[in-house]
Amino acid sequence: MPDVNQWYYSEKVKDHFFHPKNFITEEPKEGEFDAMGEVGSFACGDIMKIWIKVEPETNRIKELKWRTWGCATAIASTSVFSEMITKDGGMTIDEALKITPKDIAERLGGIPDRKFHCSVMADQAFKKAVENYRSKKI
Ligand code: FES
Repeated sequence: MPDVNQWYYSEKVKDHFFHPKNFITEEPKEGEFDAMGEVGSFACGDIMKIWIKVEPETNRIKELKWRTWGCATAIASTSVFSEMITKDGGMTIDEALKITPKDIAERLGGIPDRKFHCSVMADQAFKKAVENYRSKKI
């Protein structure tokens, strides 16, 4: 029987779970962001939504906000992902697209294998947001 008082995740996961960065509790208003991406996980049925603001001249992600109906790992993963992408003035879209779920897991000090699909949701929702952004530019 597992000990319910035992925390099985890294301190970094704990920190991002209890203090998530760039998390929003309400849906943004129409036009507040440049694009949005949403994915659901087949593995668990949870949902992730990501909104981005992009500086058109440089293609840098100036802002990334998110909501999820997912678990602690999904929350911590998206929180750290949002930090990686927006720090120091923001990555370009192409730089940000190179971040993998493995990079996110490493940044969190590792996550259990059975929770890996949770970190994939941030990556996939971001890619959908980029698709949405690029489709508006055509
Ligand atoms: Fe659904 Fe983690 S179990 S996002």
